[in-house]
Amino acid sequence: MAFLAPMPGLIPERFIDELLTRIDIVEVVQPRVALKRAGREWTACCPFHDERTPSFYVSPAKQFYHCFGCGAHGSAIKFLMEYDRLEFPDAVEELAQMVGLTVPHEGGPARPREDHTDLYTLLEAAARFYQAELPKSAAAQAYCSTRGLTPDIIERFRIGWAPGGWDAVKHALGSNAARLQMLDEAGMLASGDKGKYDRFRERLMFPIMDRRGRVIAFGGRITTSAANAHSADAARSEGPKYLNSPETPLFHKGRELFALWQVREANRKLERLLVVEGYMDAVALHQAGITQAVATLGTSTTAEHAELLFRAAADVFFCFDGDKAGRSAAWRALESVLPRMRDGRQAFFLFLPEGEDPDTLVRKEGRDGFEARLRQATPLSEYFFAYLAHDVNVATLDGRARLAEHARPLLAKLPDGAFRDLMYAELEKRTGTRGGVAAGGPVVGRNTAGVTRSPRRTLVRSAIALLLANPALAQDVATPYAFARLDKPGVALLIELLDAARARPGINTALLLEQFHGRGEAGALQKLALADFPGEPEALRVEFLDAIARLGAQTTQQQLDALIRKQSEGVLDAGEKNALRELLARKGKRGR
Ligand code: UTP
Ligand code: MN
Repeated sequence: MAFLAPMPGLIPERFIDELLTRIDIVEVVQPRVALKRAGREWTACCPFHDERTPSFYVSPAKQFYHCFGCGAHGSAIKFLMEYDRLEFPDAVEELAQMVGLTVPHEGGPARPREDHTDLYTLLEAAARFYQAELPKSAAAQAYCSTRGLTPDIIERFRIGWAPGGWDAVKHALGSNAARLQMLDEAGMLASGDKGKYDRFRERLMFPIMDRRGRVIAFGGRITTSAANAHSADAARSEGPKYLNSPETPLFHKGRELFALWQVREANRKLERLLVVEGYMDAVALHQAGITQAVATLGTSTTAEHAELLFRAAADVFFCFDGDKAGRSAAWRALESVLPRMRDGRQAFFLFLPEGEDPDTLVRKEGRDGFEARLRQATPLSEYFFAYLAHDVNVATLDGRARLAEHARPLLAKLPDGAFRDLMYAELEKRTGTRGGVAAGGPVVGRNTAGVTRSPRRTLVRSAIALLLANPALAQDVATPYAFARLDKPGVALLIELLDAARARPGINTALLLEQFHGRGEAGALQKLALADFPGEPEALRVEFLDAIARLGAQTTQQQLDALIRKQSEGVLDAGEKNALRELLARKGKRGR
């Protein structure tokens, strides 16, 4: 299978089969998304994009989910990977636990996965340790009060203190060799001449939680005043102002957002998210009552962040410092969100006055002052054209041409929709060029896409759709397939599907589709799998077998036509003459 990860200890395919036939996708989705019954299926507002009317469906019969709005689609495994942001082996593990199966691993080092639960437990223990240390340290207490952190916010963010010395955590949590090894794997140790020692020492500790509230990493800030001076000396003696956990099996900084867990805790329904740059910025905003703030972790906004952000909320506000670094970070953020600007989503950019960050500003101006700034934030469309027009003279023809030239490849990244059309229209207005048409014609493209949306239902397509709806039908098709040599689009795919379904009796729709994961045909197959066939199973079986029989007849006809053409050209060899005679005889028999 295409996406069985090349991990140590491969999970055997037959186990995946067994797992997917045992679990019920509705039971997997239901606790995470409020499903409502809709006939034979279940429906909800899609968890993968923002919408007000439900277009997300879960089919117990086909064991897959599908969103008619954003096209999200897959099996229970895919759902867990997407929704809980799990890697493939973790999703499998989680499902296996639900039905009481143990995941076997073939070859490779034994069970790399088992340790993960232990890593989570260990990091949770570390967070508790740091939390317990905070009240004991006068320095830490003093620092918290200088920064204006209230006991409530310290509690909500589980802010702690890493004591000095070299092995406080090592002593507290690394009681044996195995645990020491895990501390290291969790990124809690650094190594030097004297061996391994605590990575975080004398720092205010910010635990980073994943979307389930599990501690997966830490950021630690030094509290000495020298740090504020940004001097090289300070850096040498104290290390960086903020020290973060390294990348570990649990922590990938480009994929995580600080405070997202707290945001979810504080907001039942999330309409907007604010993205800021610093830990303290997020914390200060929450403290001020703006509880939709998250922070990237010392990186600019990645594509994965953009996806995560828009899945959580329809409106995303990016806050940047007003300096040059802030402006270039803002443009990078814009580039990462462009491909995700589906209709209904909005991105705004807020540039702060020089020398201020959200932390200082919200403390100065309060919640109302900050909200007022948010209301004035620049919409993506405006920022887009302002930025691109910045270094060209739009009063000249050349300048406008340059603007169009820069804008087009970027606008081409926008997903299809009204927003994209409006942006092209705006470009046209600003430059006087037919930006859209020249760039490949989004307007024209959309219209034709609309017309071709419901593809013609050919015999091959019907057979595939029926087979996808009920893979067990494959068992009723005689081999070798009479239509095997039919020269029509989709025949090879139909054969592949039949073979796959025959090889694995009991296979369901989702599982069959999974075999095509990552292949070009996957999208088309998904669409066909959505076809609903009301009617008795027996009637569908007859319809399917009839389609197969007609494909066989078409094959005969195709071969016959080819031979007759050759005959008329006088180029038939002896073998072909025999074949022609046989085909004619067969056809005659059927005709009678
Ligand atoms: P800032 O230095 O702007 O952070 O760095 P801040 O939150 O305003 O810090 P305070 O107010 O002085 O406490 C922004 C972010 O960049 C990362 C951290 O994630 C920080 O929150 N950073 C910064 C580091 O990872 N290492 C550093 O040494 C500095
Ligand atoms: Mn700051």
